[in-house]
This record gives sequence, C-alpha cells and structure tokens, in this order.
Amino acid sequence: MSVASTGTRGHGVDGVEVRPAVGDDLSGVLSVGHRTWLATYEPLVGPEYVAMGLAKWWTSDVVAASIRKGRTIVAVDGDDVVGVATFGPQDDDFVLWKLYVLPDNHGNGVGSRLLDAVVERAVEGGHSRIVLSHIEGNAGAARFYARHGFTETHRESGGSDMPVSVWMERPLPSAEATGTEDAS
Ligand SMILES: CC(C)(COP(=O)(O)OP(=O)(O)OC[C@H]1O[C@@H](n2cnc3c(N)ncnc32)[C@H](O)[C@@H]1OP(=O)(O)O)[C@@H](O)C(=O)NCCC(=O)NCCS
Repeated sequence: MSVASTGTRGHGVDGVEVRPAVGDDLSGVLSVGHRTWLATYEPLVGPEYVAMGLAKWWTSDVVAASIRKGRTIVAVDGDDVVGVATFGPQDDDFVLWKLYVLPDNHGNGVGSRLLDAVVERAVEGGHSRIVLSHIEGNAGAARFYARHGFTETHRESGGSDMPVSVWMERPLPSAEATGTEDAS
C-alpha cells in the first residue's frame, strides 16, 4: 500500500492532507522551507548558515527535482502547504533529508504524519532502517525523533563555522511483517 493509495488520501481529523507532492506544490514547498529554516536556524546558528542552506537545498531546481522523482511528501491544509518531508538514497541508506512544518502548525501532529508517510515508503522499499541528521542544539528535533524511535549513531563535524550534525537511525520492520508491499 503506498501513501497515495491509502483509503483516506492521508486526511487527518484536522482536515490536513498528507500526500506525495506534485508540480503545483513547488511554491508552497519553497515557502515552508524558507520560513521554517529562518525561524529554526537563525537563532541557533545564525544568518550565514541559513543563507547557505537555502541557496544549497531550497532552490526551485533542487525542490522541483525532488518532487519530480517522487521524493517529496507534503501536508496540505486547504490550498496551503503547511509541512514537507523529503527522502532519498545515500549509498545503501534510506535517508530522511528534510522534515519541516510551519512554526504556527507545530505540535498538531503534522510532523508525525509526514514522518509516518516517509517510514511507510522506506518499509515498502524493503529498507531495514531509516537514517537522518539534525543540527546539534536543535532540541525540538532531537526530542521529536527520540519520541519516534530514533537513536543517535554518530556526530559529524560540519567544518569551520558550520554546525555539527547528529546522525540517528531507526530500525524498520520488513514489508511482509507490516503487510505493506511495494506495488510499483
Ligand atoms: C520537528 C518538527 C518537524 C515536528 O513537527 P510537529 O508537527 O511540530 O510535530 P508533532 O506535532 O507531530 O509532534 C510534536 C512533538 O514535536 C516536538 N516539537 C518540536 N518542536 C516543537 C514545537 N515548536 N512545538 C511543539 N512540539 C515540538 C515535541 O517533541 C513534540 O512532542 P511532545 O508531544 O512530547 O510535545 C517541527 O516542530 C519542525 O518543523 N521544527 C522546526 C524544523 C526542524 O527542526 N525540523 C527538523 C530538521 S532535522
């Protein structure tokens, strides 16, 4: 069963829909990324890091490519994208690259639903674990991932003037065990 084929189309009780992103979501995804990055990282690591990250990971080209490859999931409230998650391979790993929910929507379960959708993809793909990193000092993210079963594996220096990345992993059950199979 894929995210797109869930009977409810990913609608929650609050009316927020979680679904794979399409081309028309591009500006909404960019807006979530830019607004949430600024609010999260400027106080934590400063404006230079925010400018670098937005220029590297949140350009139209990068975001459109991820949408085109089917590696972006959005949470949508009416016409508004309020949260986004992206995933993809790195070597043998399945990586959750981005998980961002607009600050006004934090604490409403949107991040948990986006994470669940990404985990479902990883299980469907037959992966034995999902990995991610967050910046050292991002206490909200650390708490969120710990509550969702992730444990730290190692820390990676970002180099001069760059934040340290905290890498985490969560083991996954096999697709047979969960009854989900990749139909594609
Ligand atoms: C981390 C994040 C994706 C979680 O999404 P969310 O929709 O707020 O999460 P949920 O509502 O499903 O779960 C809430 C949990 O998230 C954590 N959390 C993190 N930041 C929070 C915030 N500002 N408000 C409320 N909860 C927050 C808490 O641990 C909370 O757990 P609790 O139930 O014990 O209070 C979201 O807060 C976010 O976008 N944060 C800023 C960007 C970021 O750090 N992203 C991760 C990058 S690696």
